[in-house]
Amino acid sequence: MIYLEKKTFPHKGNTLIYFTYEDALKGDIFLKRLNILTGERIAKKIKRHEFTGKKDESIIVEGGDVYENIIIYSLGKSKERPLVSIRDGLANAVRLASSLKSSSIHLYYIPIMGDDFFDLGKNCAIGFYMGNYRFDKYKSKEQKKKNHIVQDMYVYSEKDFSPEFEQGIRYGEYIVKGVTTACDLVNEPASFVHPETLMKEAFNIEKESQGTITAQVLDRQECERLGMGAFLGVAKGSEREPKFIILKYNPKSATSAFVKATADKAKKICLIGKSITFDSGGISLKPSLGMEEMKSDMAGGATVLGVFKILAHLDKIVNISSYGEIYGILPACENMPSGKALKPGDVVRGLNGKTAEVINTDAEGRLTLADAVAYAEKYIQPDEIIDLATLTGACKVALGENIAGLFGNNDTFTKRFIKITQEEGEEVWQLPLYKPYLKLLKSDIADLKNVSSRGWGGAITGALFIGEFVVKAKWIHIDIAGPSYVTSSSGIANSGATGWGVLSIISYLAT
Ligand code: BES
Ligand code: ZN
Ligand code: ZN
Repeated sequence: MIYLEKKTFPHKGNTLIYFTYEDALKGDIFLKRLNILTGERIAKKIKRHEFTGKKDESIIVEGGDVYENIIIYSLGKSKERPLVSIRDGLANAVRLASSLKSSSIHLYYIPIMGDDFFDLGKNCAIGFYMGNYRFDKYKSKEQKKKNHIVQDMYVYSEKDFSPEFEQGIRYGEYIVKGVTTACDLVNEPASFVHPETLMKEAFNIEKESQGTITAQVLDRQECERLGMGAFLGVAKGSEREPKFIILKYNPKSATSAFVKATADKAKKICLIGKSITFDSGGISLKPSLGMEEMKSDMAGGATVLGVFKILAHLDKIVNISSYGEIYGILPACENMPSGKALKPGDVVRGLNGKTAEVINTDAEGRLTLADAVAYAEKYIQPDEIIDLATLTGACKVALGENIAGLFGNNDTFTKRFIKITQEEGEEVWQLPLYKPYLKLLKSDIADLKNVSSRGWGGAITGALFIGEFVVKAKWIHIDIAGPSYVTSSSGIANSGATGWGVLSIISYLAT
């Protein structure tokens, strides 16, 4: 829980987290007071250069009579993305406090944190709860205990808290719900998350939404009837039934009068998430090394579900969206080898009539997304499409595990979205939709082939393939193969699933 209290500095407590800044270190009066309190231990550490104030440097000192421990944590230069650095710094500091087995942390509001109280509250909540996120349901009680959780955070201020700060915290708590919903689904082993599991989550979201969200699911026969041969081709090898999931949020039925009044009826956006609940590669089987990570190949879909999980509740706090309708599509299936599976050399026909020669059954995401995009263009006709997909290893090789690759067919839309990802601290790097590379996807016997005839530029050719199914919409494709599932914890990203994209998408919809 997060508690706000008006108290003078310092107040007795468990672990104090004190944020300082590289450029404010010298004149920091609070730090001076803490130094006295700890018998000059802080000054000694600074003298010995154990703490120079560089970003994300921290020291832990015994807290004298007042605190058990004090964590001094530097957020770097005070002007550099202050809110994101507070959020990520807090998550890291919570992990430190957890290693000290602290039951609570104490945080002081200091003016250098800025006076954008809503966003400050939001980021404090996200930092605190994400630093505490665990996926430990399969661990024994004893093991769970070792992985200590910091139960409470007390935020103190010498002045009254503004109501915006409290509202921001409440908003942040909703956002965390969205992010952790996505994380849980991705971290859960693939033998427990099937297309049907995602469908159930969609129906749950519908039920919780008080009439603002509807979920519709197309089964194999219905997909066949619509001609989704690309999606169904991928699904063929699996024992599990594919589910083509469509969510729709209708702001006109929201509780907020403002949202009702501003919802621009004509404007529609569609969020599409790659939802391969396990990607074995199919007949083009992946090597064993690292294959376990392919339970995360539905991370795009999980992010879309995370967004919808909270969409219906945010309008109580912020004016969510000027869109008339917000859609989510999850073409959910498993990519497995079997006697029924798609074979290299097969040709599939998508919903829009285009055919693709399947050279490599491991390039399955673009096939499922082709039908999802074609469905959106045919039956929804959105102004904007954003797809999130763990599409290519090539993108991860190019940008590493913390940066997503972003492609867009419309400069204004792309720039607006990139700006939001920067504000939210979700790193993206724009890559080109370089049309001349389309020739690498030419097939002798079909309209396209699903992989390039060359080994390079894989993230680009993957994006170009999906782009061939976009007709009218402004479109952004985000390759999240890297940042959706990471090897080490840092900032709000915990090792394993990160729920990448929930923050930016929500923020984009709310502005
Ligand atoms: N799901 C994978 C991409 C991936 C790799 C995601 C690593 C996360 C981490 C995707 O379906 C895939 O296998 N892509 C192939 C494409 C290739 C055959 C053109 C790849 O990247 O090797
Ligand atoms: Zn694959
Ligand atoms: Zn895949």
